[in-house]
Amino acid sequence: MRRKVIAGNWKMNMLPGEAISFLQAFEPLIKHTENEVVLCVPYTDLFYALNFAQDTNIKIGAQNMHWEESGAFTGEVAPGMLKAIGVEYVIIGHSERRQYYNETDETVNKKLKAAFANDLKPIVCVGETLEEREAGITAERITSQTRLALEGLTNEQVKNTIIAYEPIWAIGTGKTATAEDANNSIKEIRNEVEKIYGKDVADEIIIQYGGSVKSSNAKELFEMSDIDGGLVGGASLKADEFSKIVNFDKQV
Ligand code: PGA
Repeated sequence: MRRKVIAGNWKMNMLPGEAISFLQAFEPLIKHTENEVVLCVPYTDLFYALNFAQDTNIKIGAQNMHWEESGAFTGEVAPGMLKAIGVEYVIIGHSERRQYYNETDETVNKKLKAAFANDLKPIVCVGETLEEREAGITAERITSQTRLALEGLTNEQVKNTIIAYEPIWAIGTGKTATAEDANNSIKEIRNEVEKIYGKDVADEIIIQYGGSVKSSNAKELFEMSDIDGGLVGGASLKADEFSKIVNFDKQV
């Protein structure tokens, strides 16, 4: 049985004081969950969030990193820097980074390898645009993004990768893929992993859904056969709302 991983992606939101208030309200609400709870916060909140999260069941992640270990890359953060302060997870290749910051399948692959070299758990995002969906090339797009992201990783590393399937047209728009649609796309991704890395790996790899997940649709989505939790943007900014998503399996 694969576990459910529910990750919040705060994007460019939350000052340290707001992060601490969030965590104080959120932690008591989710402390009994068996689901894995991750919060991917801005760099400037990492110290505060890590400090708070010690001795809780909340894991802390970053939202991006460089692939190089160090060097003349003004403004960038290296994987080893994240590891050194206790970060466990890192989002790689979010569609906003692909769209606004020239992230490519090639840089995503380099970052994935760098994450494993530094013992960070990557959450890699893939997803089609509205045009690609309308052109009927969703499966082709997401399987090729998956293949290129994972290229050159060992079976063990692929097993420990989390993939977030996030249809771009569903991010921050209030439009959610139907549970069936999301499940079908995730099956396509899992089949692609099986073709290259075998059934063992495909059965174990966690594949999340992301794109306008909220407490009112989380249960339906996360109970689908192949959806192993979610990557949640807007709805992860409110402690009460995000706790209901984490506790989706307690909803009646
Ligand atoms: P959303 O964002 O939940 O606000 O749609 C999801 C994401 O971009 O990870």
